Amino acid sequence: MTGWTQGEKHLIAAAAAAAPSVHNTQPWMLEFHDEYVSLYERLDRALPRHDPLGRDRLISCGAALEHVLLAMRVLGWVPDVELRHDRTHPDEVARISAVGRAEPSDVELDRHRAITARRSHRKPFAARRLDGDMRRVLLGVRGIDGVGLRVVSEPAEIAALARLLNHSALVLRADCAYQRELAAWTAPVRQPLPGAGVSSATRRVSTLPWAGLVRRTTAIPDIGFLADRLSREFLLLVETPDDGRLDHVRAGMAAEQTWLTTVAAGLAGSLLTQPFQLHEVRAGLMEALTLGGFPQLLLRFGHP
Ligand SMILES: Cc1cc2nc3c(=O)[nH]c(=O)nc-3n(C[C@H](O)[C@H](O)[C@H](O)COP(=O)(O)O)c2cc1C
Repeated sequence: MTGWTQGEKHLIAAAAAAAPSVHNTQPWMLEFHDEYVSLYERLDRALPRHDPLGRDRLISCGAALEHVLLAMRVLGWVPDVELRHDRTHPDEVARISAVGRAEPSDVELDRHRAITARRSHRKPFAARRLDGDMRRVLLGVRGIDGVGLRVVSEPAEIAALARLLNHSALVLRADCAYQRELAAWTAPVRQPLPGAGVSSATRRVSTLPWAGLVRRTTAIPDIGFLADRLSREFLLLVETPDDGRLDHVRAGMAAEQTWLTTVAAGLAGSLLTQPFQLHEVRAGLMEALTLGGFPQLLLRFGHP
């Protein structure tokens, strides 16, 4: 191909802008070239306290990349992705070229429609269990190289998760630098623009700590209560074989593909990494769930 039309650029950029991102920082930028589109991470959107290693920034870029790929498919292009790890362009995350033409599938059209419907659902879900529904939905997830989606459902696993989330909530609630950063990235409105920080609704104490963002005023329930609530949600841990730059991007792609697939199936969900910023929480999860890889994020799904 040689060049993108204005309409194509608009659709691709709009899809990226609707992707979830850590603290709604939207830490990416697209650059359109005749032969390809480059996705860059925006280092000026760093969160030094919450995300000192930039892991969440790259997971966010992975989510945006998944949206870009879907937009290209809906435009009838067959995308080819090259994930970048090049010292001369350290902030370039991916190059996406259009290498052919093909009609989008129904699944791709459904996922693309889900881009605008997706929102972080931090509230509790309806009481209906959804193990069967979710397992059917997961069959439709194509998956991303090497990324594992680990269901967390055994009572002993849920109990361990509750202990770790409780611990991280207590630590982060008392971390003044962390709280200052979160306050700075909280928009004064319920529906902030892309890149303008998290919704003011996340300030409410009613959003429980495993599903929301722990603030100074967040009431932290006891471990038994937490375990009971978690046991009624469908929990998926995204893990990667290694813990490098490309693993983080792929984790974001896999998470977003899964999230869009569940939204297309009428479910709601949210994504958490906040507790994973504590080393002991990641290490504790690896041990309690006998993971072979590195836990990157937790997805929770349910009926809205
Ligand atoms: C890498 C990453 C980490 C996130 N971590 C959390 C989290 O720990 N808790 C939470 O409530 N939301 C988390 N989110 C959700 C973002 O806050 C949310 O995507 C953003 O505010 C935009 O809102 P939306 O998802 O409703 O479009 C995370 C999102 C990403 C991509």
